[in-house]
Amino acid sequence: MADAKLESKARALREEIRKHSYHYYVENAPVISDYEFDQLFNELVELEEKYPDLRTPDSPTQRVGTPPAEGFERIPHPVPILSLSNAYDEQEIYDWRERISKLDDRVAEADFVVEPKLDGLTVVLHYENGVFVRGATRGDGEVGEDITANLKTLRSLPLRIPLVETDLPVPDRLVVRGEAIIYLEDFYALNKALEEAGQRTYVNPRNTASGALRQLDPALTAERPIRLLCYAIVDGDGELPETQFATIEILQALGFPVPADIRLCSTLDEVINEYQRWVDRRGELQYEADGVVVKINDLELSDALGVVGKDPRGAIAYKFPAQVVTTSLNEIGLNVGRTGVITPYAILEPVEVGGVTVRQATLHNFDFIAEKDIREGDRVYIKRAGDVIPYVIGPVLEARSGDLEPYSMPDTCPACGEALEKIDAEVAVFCVNPGCPAQLVRNIEHFASRGAMDIEGLGIKVAELLVEQGLVADVADLYLLELDAVRSLEGFGEKRADNLIEAIDESRAQPLSRLLAALGIRNVGSTVASDLARHYKNLDQLMAASQEELEKIEGIGEVVAKGIFDWFHSPANLRLLEKMRAAGLWPQTQYADSDVPQTLESLTFVLTGTLPSMTRQEARTRIEMHGGRVTGSVSSKTDYVVAGRSPGSKASKASDLGVPVIDEGELEALIGGT
Ligand code: IVH
Repeated sequence: MADAKLESKARALREEIRKHSYHYYVENAPVISDYEFDQLFNELVELEEKYPDLRTPDSPTQRVGTPPAEGFERIPHPVPILSLSNAYDEQEIYDWRERISKLDDRVAEADFVVEPKLDGLTVVLHYENGVFVRGATRGDGEVGEDITANLKTLRSLPLRIPLVETDLPVPDRLVVRGEAIIYLEDFYALNKALEEAGQRTYVNPRNTASGALRQLDPALTAERPIRLLCYAIVDGDGELPETQFATIEILQALGFPVPADIRLCSTLDEVINEYQRWVDRRGELQYEADGVVVKINDLELSDALGVVGKDPRGAIAYKFPAQVVTTSLNEIGLNVGRTGVITPYAILEPVEVGGVTVRQATLHNFDFIAEKDIREGDRVYIKRAGDVIPYVIGPVLEARSGDLEPYSMPDTCPACGEALEKIDAEVAVFCVNPGCPAQLVRNIEHFASRGAMDIEGLGIKVAELLVEQGLVADVADLYLLELDAVRSLEGFGEKRADNLIEAIDESRAQPLSRLLAALGIRNVGSTVASDLARHYKNLDQLMAASQEELEKIEGIGEVVAKGIFDWFHSPANLRLLEKMRAAGLWPQTQYADSDVPQTLESLTFVLTGTLPSMTRQEARTRIEMHGGRVTGSVSSKTDYVVAGRSPGSKASKASDLGVPVIDEGELEALIGGT
């Protein structure tokens, strides 16, 4: 029997765990690291195991996962959707094997599979006669939420299997388990777009994916770049694979996306090496992973080992070292974006997180600072995940000294000193001064960037110099730069100045779509810019277009059309346009009337990897010249993916969707009309 002291210890642990679960699951704002959380949890598990009478029915150890939320139908799982126990070091992995060896002799000879532990939302996918019929969240492991409609919006989810022809028999009924995640690259792009639009940014990919999949409106889910990776067959008819490794192979053959680089290890030393290899590559992963999962390969043996609570004995999560640390927030810095949006960031006392020295971290937006009551001088928790920019989780309240003032939002622009404005319902504040030098620098940087006018040698540093020295007050001024003035800039010799002037000069030959993408019109990226350049020969025609006319263009909706129309009717932009015309920057569309054969008409392409003889931008122009369209992401509407060396995930997504992947030579053949 436990005494009163132990009883109060257990009560305190339960309270502590409940509080942190709330921060984590409900507020999406953990206060302690996962590692510290697991420590608390394990302490309680051990205590309860030793003194079972301390275990209360409402103890957090008695529930794993979140019960299904209101608003979704409930789907009972065909078998319990189990969780995993954790190991934090090599010893714990050896201990695990030791424990299970005692239960079954076969463990001594067993192989292991090492997989990434994906940090996303578990989903359970039901297929009947090869058709995706139902999908659920994990819920409490017994019953999940029916998120079928939301899952159908995921492009990587096969709606029908097999996706590609295979000799494999497809079970009449198959239930697959996977993880819904957001790739870091997509997460970055999403947050950047939200930030520029002055909207609230997301804290991490997992919360974004989980939030989006639990929206009651599937259209909202569809707006988020969620992907799927599958790793288990939960249930099914007929003959099912006997090993974990074969499961992955079969899932892949049926058309399910599976994690790359899963390995089979025959000894535990190999497993440890494999873990180390993942740790070393952690910064290069496309997605967030918080460890690896080590699984007994023989599924029958794994099953026979049984479960402890909700954790199977046949698998264990081997977690990566914690990447949450605390440091001092010396100052809150302010960044002025291209659209004038002001974003706060943390200037930190340098600190090492996961082998990298961190000096700055994201603070998201001013509402975040207010909600968390983050103050200059606070000690703060910092998290670094994969190679995502580190972010501040919140203040260490226990460490706060009494004299820190709450942070007050700036009311003037840190660059130009003009009053800031809050626009409509957007959470961000903006500097609306069209002459703000910080915005101008960002505008020039964007204007000259690779996807836009592609002016070599004109990055943010040079843009800063040009603006500081008063040589450039808008992008048209770039085309009026005098060689002597550029030569006198700091760090510029004759050669460098000549090169810059030449590169600017050459950019006059860029087609209309490039200039349109370069101008920084809201929501006009390279795809919309090309759509516009397909309809209008030059800026004169575009300036004369009405909003209704713009809306009729495929791919352009009401909001985008209004943004374009407004841009071309603002007095400041009209002045800029006249200046551009006078400076000889008045490009024509690349979409020829008739002399270039339009062999790629109505075909949509996606480019990925390094092509042998041209840059991707050159390939884009070439495709567009011949009537084709180039978009940034692969979907069922894509006709071809053109892949070069080291293609990214786009090539694998293409094969998932059955979109043909071709090389540069095959592209040329299409252009040639064969
Ligand atoms: S296997 C019975 N494999 O991690 C097998 N889980 O902390 C149990 N997870 O709820 C799961 N990647 O959502 C497995 N490669 C992987 C995984 C994985 C991520 C998640 C899963 C689970 C959680 C446990």
